[in-house]
Amino acid sequence: MNLIQNNPYRKDFPVADQIINGKRLAYLDSAATTLKPLSVVDELDTYYRKETSNVHRGLYWLSENATTKFEASRDKVATLINAPDRKQVIFTKGTTDSVNLVAQSYARTFLKKGDVILLSQMEHHSNIVPWQIVAEEKGLTIKVIPINSRGELLMDEYKKLMTPEVKFVSIVYVSNALGTINPVKEMTEIAHANGAKIFVDAAQAIAHIKVDVQELDVDFLAFSGHKMFGPTGVGVLYGREELLNDMPPYQGGGDMIDVVTFEKTTYNNLPHKFEAGTPAIASVIGLGKAVDYLNQVGLDKIQEIEHELLSYATEKLKSIPGFKIYGEAKNKASVISFGLGDIHPHDIASLTDKEGVAIRTGHHCAQPLMKFFAVPATCRASLSIYNNQEDIDQLYRALVKVKTFFE
Ligand SMILES: Cc1ncc(COP(=O)(O)O)c(C=O)c1O
Repeated sequence: MNLIQNNPYRKDFPVADQIINGKRLAYLDSAATTLKPLSVVDELDTYYRKETSNVHRGLYWLSENATTKFEASRDKVATLINAPDRKQVIFTKGTTDSVNLVAQSYARTFLKKGDVILLSQMEHHSNIVPWQIVAEEKGLTIKVIPINSRGELLMDEYKKLMTPEVKFVSIVYVSNALGTINPVKEMTEIAHANGAKIFVDAAQAIAHIKVDVQELDVDFLAFSGHKMFGPTGVGVLYGREELLNDMPPYQGGGDMIDVVTFEKTTYNNLPHKFEAGTPAIASVIGLGKAVDYLNQVGLDKIQEIEHELLSYATEKLKSIPGFKIYGEAKNKASVISFGLGDIHPHDIASLTDKEGVAIRTGHHCAQPLMKFFAVPATCRASLSIYNNQEDIDQLYRALVKVKTFFE
């Protein structure tokens, strides 16, 4: 209990320790975006105050410095996810952008009428809609892997759905709305045995569990910088090299070309082929610092703290009469989706806000999942490395107050 009583990492995050509207802030919305450590904030400040310049272009100190730092971030990300080669790390705007890239480039080019894409009932909209767009255009079929009432994938159903027509699987690693950790390695083996490719949405996984693309053997994997202590506006797409090489560019513009003539343009090599235009330079550099921070704390320590926080919160909150958790998978990350009697989740969130507690309410960009649980919305508390026991106690007291208010 010591770690979460006196969390040593909290001091690294300036936003965590604040008074807002006269109340101590309990930030419990890390699944939406994590807070940023000072090292990341300082790096952004340095870039904007002293080191502003474009990358890959200038033959002067500032530009070379920015390029070096920018490309160093690529190395750091490649090492973090154990990518075989740095050129397999493509900087995008975020997870959503990465999914759209693969849908528009890979699926649009290589899938054909009648092919099936498998998704799951617990996907975020950004891992549904991009596939629907391409499916509509190309006559593809989308099928859905069902879940049980605890919010776990039905693996037998997955195997049954895996017919020869299935050419692509896109699956979330950790559900943002339930916390469920899916058996991605096993799912990849099953997909590959069927000749299908697999894309993994690791938006909620990357800052919480070890993500090793070679061990998982996935074809594509994506995540966002802002959910792993980094800045907004940057994300990553990892892809198997031969697939990325065969894929046509997603967007055209500067940096992604080799030679341009009005008759014919040839494209740059990986990763630049997929990085058209001026990238989010400061954000990419800041992402490198976020990776440093993750490494410095270590995923083992992160998991230890988050496990303590999750167990403490689950037990404490369950003691409130009428408290119901959505998502009780055996293998679960530090997310608690919940309802409280028949009080509307929006009423809960606006009252807890008055107590300084920042939780999320709504469909969590997972409307099909809400439909499965037959609720319009849930409240969600999501925990990270900077949270402590007091944050959870504050949520507990706020919820007790909400209950009393509605009784
Ligand atoms: C599981 C999951 N996938 C995808 C996304 C989309 O990420 P972004 O909005 O950073 O592109 C999110 C964001 O909440 C998410 O939780």
